[in-house]
Amino acid sequence: MTQARLFSGMQPSADSLQIGNYIGALMQWRDMQDAYDAFFCVVDLHAITVPQDPAELREKTRRTAAQYIAAGIEPSKSTLYVQSQVPAHAELAWILSTVTGFGEAGRMTQFKDKSQRYGSDQTSVALFTYPVLMAADILLYQANVVPVGDDQKQHVELTRNLAERFNSRFGETFTVPEPVIQSDTARIYDLQTPTSKMSKSAESQAGVLYLLDDISATAKKIMRAVTDSDGTVHYDREGKPGVANLLTIYAALTGRQIASIEDEYAGRGYGDFKKGLRDVVVSEFEPVRERALELLADPAELDRLLAANAEKAAETAEKTLSAVYDRIGLLRRG
Ligand code: TYM
Repeated sequence: MTQARLFSGMQPSADSLQIGNYIGALMQWRDMQDAYDAFFCVVDLHAITVPQDPAELREKTRRTAAQYIAAGIEPSKSTLYVQSQVPAHAELAWILSTVTGFGEAGRMTQFKDKSQRYGSDQTSVALFTYPVLMAADILLYQANVVPVGDDQKQHVELTRNLAERFNSRFGETFTVPEPVIQSDTARIYDLQTPTSKMSKSAESQAGVLYLLDDISATAKKIMRAVTDSDGTVHYDREGKPGVANLLTIYAALTGRQIASIEDEYAGRGYGDFKKGLRDVVVSEFEPVRERALELLADPAELDRLLAANAEKAAETAEKTLSAVYDRIGLLRRG
């Protein structure tokens, strides 16, 4: 029996992934990889929609791939590769941009947020068409499911709309994908500003937990996390966003129910609770960090593995691209 397809990816936009990427996406990927024919991409073409230093980008790309593997993605089973090594992504993005409405792309909230942050002269056209490239990523592999955090939901919805539109205009070509979003962990918040999503590109690093940070830095950030003056370890997203976020992280990493963690810390202060969480996070991150650093110590081997996986990905991607070219009437080289 052939397995259903899974596609997902992350931007190599920082030296390390953050705990939101890990809990919101990577843990799902790891759990789902056996049941699906899975493609996990490091989306470097997405990362260059904002300025990147070339040498750093190469390094961040390797680091992102190493963290996928260190967190448990198995490159012998899943296809783990770098987006720019499969030219079909950029080629299909161009085709899909011809069926995307300008207004439709303009309604993407991530674009609105980012373009506001950079200002219109600093905002590239590629940042605007970013979701179209993301649709191309997913549709090239005829993915059935796309596990992501909740900030990517609107982009997957756009992908579905583009697939349906293309299919109805040109005939059945693309599988219409479903987003897979774990509702309780789909949004991890910044430890210093627990009303904002944790992000690799946050201005202040004080509230962002990085997988590859020194353990002591991670411990410090947890002990300094913003809480409240109420003093009880209780989940209340609206009233106690800091504590609720820490409880979400604790529950996600231990697989425990939030109620059982609340019980454990009933009548104890935030200091105890934070120490408990620090131990949980440190013991989760430590082996991932060690394994990632080991892989990064041999970049040539990592590059070889990525290249072999890209070749495998290209086979599937080129089949879809070729069908698309035929459907829309491009004259093919004989
Ligand atoms: P990126 O690199 O911003 O994030 C990678 C994944 O991590 C999730 N995530 C979070 N989940 C919970 N809480 C958070 N604070 C948090 N921050 C990030 C994201 O939802 C995502 O699943 N556009 C995508 C990359 C992409 C992609 C794709 C994803 C390109 N093509 C095709 C899926 C399919 C992005 O920027 O993710």
